[in-house]
Amino acid sequence: MTSSVGRVLVIVPTYNERENLPIALDRLATHVPDADVLVVDDGSPDGTGELAEKIAEQDGTRPGRVHVLHRSGKLGLGTAYIAGFHWALERSYDVVVEMDADGSHRAEDLPRILDALRDADLVLGSRWVPGGKVLNWPMSRHILSRGANTYTRIILGIPLGDATGGFRAYRTALLRDLALDDIASQGYCFQVDMAWRAVRQGARVVEVPITFVERELGTSKMSRAIVVEALFSVTRWGIAERSRRVAGAFRRSAG
Ligand code: GDD
Ligand code: MN
Repeated sequence: MTSSVGRVLVIVPTYNERENLPIALDRLATHVPDADVLVVDDGSPDGTGELAEKIAEQDGTRPGRVHVLHRSGKLGLGTAYIAGFHWALERSYDVVVEMDADGSHRAEDLPRILDALRDADLVLGSRWVPGGKVLNWPMSRHILSRGANTYTRIILGIPLGDATGGFRAYRTALLRDLALDDIASQGYCFQVDMAWRAVRQGARVVEVPITFVERELGTSKMSRAIVVEALFSVTRWGIAERSRRVAGAFRRSAG
């Protein structure tokens, strides 16, 4: 439970990840044995939630290592993480990690991410900084991710290589400052929303290169609706930020 950065909780959201979840939990036990894990399952029809319960009961590595939060149905990645953040804050964890269940985020990269958190409030596991890599993605996903990150950098003016990625570690002290209940992002734009809030809050945000390996089992939940939500949201935040800056400049010149 305790590392150099304190008590760590890894949140793993799942929707139909029956084949992947046991492997992911094993790898976490190997590479970050002291970290607790919270699986947030959205009533997966394939029984991932029940499987997670079974693993939590039978996990021989450390009693109380694995926990499960069940939600009634597929309510989106963003709200799954927010439910997990509240769970962590109620239990006084020092650090919360976000991680996919499908093997794309390698547990062996996590110790480096946690090390970097010693001098940061938020560490992003980044595919798009020197040393970062993506393995086995089709060209269409490369274009989508690079395009989304370039658009985000330009519209929001934040100097991040990978603001959309989902492998990251937060100090819970930062989460307490971020007004989690205001966050409306349901899908993957939640990641940009959180990074953007952290930057505006003046948090120390650091990127660490990771190797993202496309899943071998099961299917991605990325959808057109998720892309559309992200495009509209980032554009809306960018416009709001510009109007704030213009209003600020007017106030300064008037005063
Ligand atoms: N509980 C819950 N509810 N879990 C979900 C939901 C949901 O509605 N949607 C997705 N997940 C879980 C999946 O089961 C998986 O563990 C993780 O979230 C990531 O989902 P994938 O569907 O595998 O995402 P991806 O590989 O296409 O997208 C990756 O890259 C995106 C940016 O390029 C992920 O790392 C995303 O987090 C990232 O934003
Ligand atoms: Mn995936």
